[in-house]
Amino acid sequence: MRRKLIAGNWKMNGVRASLSEIARLAELTDRDQRRRHDVLICPPLTLAWTSALAALGSGILIGAQDCHANASGAHTGDVSANMLSDLGLSHVIVGHSERRADHAETSAVVKAKATAALGAGLVAIVCVGETLAEREAGKAEAVVGRQVRASLPDGFDARTTVIAYEPVWAIGTGKTATPSDVQVMHSFIRSVVKRMARTEASAIRILYGGSVKPGNAAELLALPDVDGALVGGASLVASDFASIVKAAG
Ligand code: 13P
Repeated sequence: MRRKLIAGNWKMNGVRASLSEIARLAELTDRDQRRRHDVLICPPLTLAWTSALAALGSGILIGAQDCHANASGAHTGDVSANMLSDLGLSHVIVGHSERRADHAETSAVVKAKATAALGAGLVAIVCVGETLAEREAGKAEAVVGRQVRASLPDGFDARTTVIAYEPVWAIGTGKTATPSDVQVMHSFIRSVVKRMARTEASAIRILYGGSVKPGNAAELLALPDVDGALVGGASLVASDFASIVKAAG
């Protein structure tokens, strides 16, 4: 039985006033839900510490949206996985399509970041997903398969690594992949993982991301190979995110 992970990615949104959403999320979800599932918020780094304080005692986990592959050094503006773990964070997202696009991050870079995350004791949430052009050209599985194989860190396991499938065309667009497309892709990703690390394939968690909302979450989260959600826009408002957590059952 895979434990569901419902993760909010705030992206570059949120100032100190937004911390009230974390307190509100704790009020709107019950302790049982937070015990049954992992509930995670990844705020911008400026709010990471205060978010951890706001979440204290609630069971809500706080993570980061990116890290550098190196442990320390001359990398102005960057933050290492060790620094995130030193802050008490539990998870870090790596290889989000916005970082792959905005910062030209290759799967090799993503793998190095995920490796650093594991080394620092963080859970790495490794993102993969095809563009609309790639899907329309019938290349979605080829692209995603390549990303999975090249981005997962060596020696990954279900405890330390989570995969997030986020089709680029569904992010922030209001377009969601159909449940059957999502199930087909998640099952495909699991088959790729099985070829990479036989024992972990049935245990590894695969999240879906891309316009997950209170209205479509239950259907997506009920799919056999969907083990949670990575939520952007709808994670910014506690009541919406709480509904998505509830939809996990
Ligand atoms: P939206 O939920 O806003 O589509 O964003 C998804 C995402 O990119 C989460 O990482």
